[in-house]
Amino acid sequence: MTVANYTGLNTDPSLSLYHLYDPDILAYPYPLYHRLQDEDPVHWDPFLNAWVVTKYSDVLFVLQNFSAKCAPCPERLIQMGADSIKPIADVMVLQMLFMDPPDHTRLRGVCAGMFKPRLLERLREHIQDIVNDLLRPRLAAGSMDILGDFANRLPAIVTAELMGVPPEDHEQLKLWSADFAEILGNFQHNPDRDAKMLKSLQEMIAYFRNALEEHRARPRQDVITALLNAGIYGVHLDDAVIIANCILVMVGGQETTPNLIGNGMLSLLKNPGELEKLRSEPPLIPTAMEELLRYEAPSQHTTRLAPHDVELRGRRIGKEQSVIAVMGSANRDPEQFSQPDRLDITRSGNKHLAFGGGPHFCFGAPLARLEAHIAFETLLRCAPEMALAPIPLQWRPNLGLRGLTALPVSFAATAPNHSLGPGIENSANAAKWSGIQSIA
Ligand code: HEM
Repeated sequence: MTVANYTGLNTDPSLSLYHLYDPDILAYPYPLYHRLQDEDPVHWDPFLNAWVVTKYSDVLFVLQNFSAKCAPCPERLIQMGADSIKPIADVMVLQMLFMDPPDHTRLRGVCAGMFKPRLLERLREHIQDIVNDLLRPRLAAGSMDILGDFANRLPAIVTAELMGVPPEDHEQLKLWSADFAEILGNFQHNPDRDAKMLKSLQEMIAYFRNALEEHRARPRQDVITALLNAGIYGVHLDDAVIIANCILVMVGGQETTPNLIGNGMLSLLKNPGELEKLRSEPPLIPTAMEELLRYEAPSQHTTRLAPHDVELRGRRIGKEQSVIAVMGSANRDPEQFSQPDRLDITRSGNKHLAFGGGPHFCFGAPLARLEAHIAFETLLRCAPEMALAPIPLQWRPNLGLRGLTALPVSFAATAPNHSLGPGIENSANAAKWSGIQSIA
């Protein structure tokens, strides 16, 4: 690995974000973030060949002003010895996440319309039904893996419905998403995983190409139809762009919301006083959810390029140098949040950056909030006396997308016929997961 030598910079190796590859640091990265904030808030990381910003105001500045065109180009892949994953990079450059205005603005506008809070609110009861169906057998058993049995599956089903693909495919969609997320979340590619990831990508592309044909024959009210109809708004999108962005929306919907639910329940279980407060006062859930997003952000960092030479805190960032904006650190900045390492479910003025900021602010945020609100409310109401299973927890080896591999818990079991209310139907039948078309 080449280590750039910029004289006068604090290149203390112990400050490198590379240490997130150490499972103990990944499990609790906040001391590393605090050191960066205190010792070198605009840090040149020679191991990652990038600047790392960790203070709230700098992270927000970078998100608002820097370029998102940082999908690896073929030359960069060759330089990294990663040219084998070129087909993945070819898809990434077509995704809105890696575009700047005006291309970004047009493409985002086409998709984001499907995620407006007013439209999504109509899905509340339907999502409650899905939650009830997933939880019912586990609540009767008195134990579950919150992620495997529930939190991974709920967003996979809902995202499939909103996109317009069969919700019964959610398990396959989730497996593909996890493979793609490995590339999005990590600093380095793992050659041992190339073959698996490339196979997943080819399968996803074929799957969405087929879905496009079906939607052309039978248009519906969903994300795929919106992308196919973009021409109405004067935006021409070819099939490769539509497919790349279907993959992005699918991954965005599936690789983050489970971690809000999983990380959030873990944080509550580790802070029993806050858990009890929330259980006895459910109207606090929206405020608590924002705190859980701040406290253990499901998306910890993202990368941008400097649009021109920029001076930040006395450091000169050169044009087109990479900058890693660490939202997980900004959310723990004591200059922005008092006692940032304390979980306080009543915290006010909580302007966390868990959904990013600036032009790429997550447009799935209203959906994530809706799904997680229903999930937290139902779990707290129907699974009393919840306790963590006495086994060590493991964090997913994904440096950017922060979540556990599993979250096994036990609780007081409920009778199998216990009413979970207040959904539309209450029958345990996956076939009704196609309810969104009639509601939208
Ligand atoms: C708790 C759940 C979620 C979190 C923490 C989250 C986080 C984020 C963040 C931090 C970004 C900005 C990334 C950047 O600036 O580089 C983003 C963008 C995005 N998210 Fe989410 N997200 C969540 C849920 C969702 C959902 C449910 C969807 C869709 C179904 C979604 C789709 C997207 C898309 C498509 C973008 C790119 C937007 C753009 O480039 O303009 N996300 N998300």
